[in-house]
Amino acid sequence: MNILILQGSPNQNGSTAILSHAFADGAREAGHSIHIVDVAHANIHPCTGCVACGYEGPCVQKDGMETLRAQILDADMLVFATPLYYYGMTAQLKAVIDRFCAFNSSLHAKHLATALLAVAWNSSDWTFDALDAHYKTLVRYCGFQDKGEILGYGCGTPSMTKRSLYVTQAYQFGKNVR
Ligand SMILES: Cc1cc2nc3c(=O)[nH]c(=O)nc-3n(C[C@H](O)[C@H](O)[C@H](O)COP(=O)(O)O)c2cc1C
Repeated sequence: MNILILQGSPNQNGSTAILSHAFADGAREAGHSIHIVDVAHANIHPCTGCVACGYEGPCVQKDGMETLRAQILDADMLVFATPLYYYGMTAQLKAVIDRFCAFNSSLHAKHLATALLAVAWNSSDWTFDALDAHYKTLVRYCGFQDKGEILGYGCGTPSMTKRSLYVTQAYQFGKNVR
């Protein structure tokens, strides 16, 4: 598969990146083609809601989303990777998702495989409830095929994350994804 990881953490060497790279290593070993996009540092602006695209057409904003849109429509699988920010995904990753607006129909028609990789400081059992509900709702609305989630409880710093079981889990997930 052609797998695109949307890395939504502003920390390029942080916990989200650790899980993204572990997943990528496993998937590469299994023969998949992997591309990690650092969406947190991409030149991608928030949707202005003008709807000049009519939910399927060129976006009036000429920025990094032009390239990313083509990459997404060329992919077989999208991986959403994010640290937990106030119990949701980062604004940087959400900005990319909102820009799906300009290719809503073609995205729905693709039935892309998707996955979620997330890390958080908190380790309470409810830590990921809101993010998990949001991700599952996106899967349902967009007609994605969910391949699974790695939810890194208690992954507050890179050293905490490196010591956790989630790195191996992300690697195995990448290695076994079909
Ligand atoms: C703005 C901000 C909001 C955060 N919100 C939460 C939160 O709601 N729950 C939580 O458990 N951790 C929260 N954290 C902690 C991060 O999710 C955690 O440190 C994570 O490992 C950061 O990943 P990174 O290294 O990829 O940046 C927050 C951190 C920041 C900077």
